Amino acid sequence: MKSLDDFRLRLGRHELVPIVVGGMGVDISSSDLALEAARLGGVGHISDAMVKTVTDRRYNTKFVKAKQAQYKHNVNSDDKSSVKFDMGHLAEATRLHVEGTMARKRGSGLIFINCMEKLTMNAPRETLALRMSAALDAGIDGITLAAGLHLGSFALIESHPRFRDAKLGIIVSSLRALQLFLKKNSRLARLPDYIVVEGPLAGGHLGFGMDWAQYDLATIVAEIAAYLKQEQLAIPLIAAGGIFTGGDAVEMLGHGAAGVQVATRFTVTRECGLPDDIKQEYFKAEAEDIEVNQISPTGYPMRMIKSSPGIGDGIRPNCEAYGYLLDANGKCAYIAAYNREVALHPEARRVSVMDKTCLCTHMRNFAIWTCGQTASRLKHTSVRNGDGSYRLLSAEHVFLDYQYSKGQELRLPEAEAASA
Ligand SMILES: Cc1cc2nc3c(=O)[nH]c(=O)nc-3n(C[C@H](O)[C@H](O)[C@H](O)COP(=O)(O)O)c2cc1C
Repeated sequence: MKSLDDFRLRLGRHELVPIVVGGMGVDISSSDLALEAARLGGVGHISDAMVKTVTDRRYNTKFVKAKQAQYKHNVNSDDKSSVKFDMGHLAEATRLHVEGTMARKRGSGLIFINCMEKLTMNAPRETLALRMSAALDAGIDGITLAAGLHLGSFALIESHPRFRDAKLGIIVSSLRALQLFLKKNSRLARLPDYIVVEGPLAGGHLGFGMDWAQYDLATIVAEIAAYLKQEQLAIPLIAAGGIFTGGDAVEMLGHGAAGVQVATRFTVTRECGLPDDIKQEYFKAEAEDIEVNQISPTGYPMRMIKSSPGIGDGIRPNCEAYGYLLDANGKCAYIAAYNREVALHPEARRVSVMDKTCLCTHMRNFAIWTCGQTASRLKHTSVRNGDGSYRLLSAEHVFLDYQYSKGQELRLPEAEAASA
């Protein structure tokens, strides 16, 4: 029986352990987590979601305060179209986050940044172009285009000096999405260096409708692999979503993937950016505690733990401070839902908004607990402490478990200590 260690993921001249730790927005896939994946010879991701909030926390900047102060006069207005990002600050925050991470990189692996198209930031093209260029300037190894079809994203960085040397990849959930992407970019003569095929069991936003349960990752991977072969395109596929054990990963390689992208198992590691008490909520989750709902203003279904405090909360939209989901016209589905509830309950001191959530505020506060479908199995990956809590794992432990375990085997942390 094979383990993942019997395989290598080739990206250009790099020969990697075929494990990619996926991007997890608003600093859940922290620099520390990404750095561990790279040190161990795989690929780690940081994310540029709400990057100003991240650098305020990590590098003592005051970007959020500055934006809030600039637009304070607009807080009570429904019209957020004037609330724009300061492009200089956005570039500076991206630089700090990326340079600060890359300066600490050790080992033979790579560090990529997850860039979500759905972060439209009230100026979609300009902000995305700047986010990607600033990350390339700051020395990121690669960019993973996420949460969107990204039909125009390559063109936005076409003239960047690193456009052809940096690793650029895209996340898709169907052959159709990939075909559209390839068609739109054919003029640039620049293929993606890797394709993440994300199935319906993943965490975060899903590239499926509410009929997600009718799809399965292995079938989509096999379909895309067959298409690439037919077109004679040698682009490595990285399968993602629901891969919980080394055996699951090896199985995906059998369907035509060259590597796997995993995330949920790393949410309970010490290096993960979630607060420790929330990591315990992930450990405790049962299958019936996890749902896919439509409360994200992005319009994509999202999987989360039902007891996430952000669900049903009716906080006033915080676009003056954040505003990452404002579309090109300064609109966000949460603002409309919030205003509707306020109009319906004029006397209420605080309304409840069930159909949408203020994703910026709640992701910033770690109050939306997004997870993959397998989160209910996390409890089987650790042991209990004397007080009943679960022992947090090291990212190294989880990474090596994926790399070396066979079949459905899961190495518990004692085994890690014993073999050390
Ligand atoms: C907590 C959490 C946050 C996530 N945030 C993002 C994100 O910001 N952008 C993105 O492209 N994918 C995001 N994902 C998806 C992961 O990068 C990954 O592709 C997927 O979860 C892999 O499936 P698994 O969690 O079953 O291993 C997130 C996943 C989790 C668990």
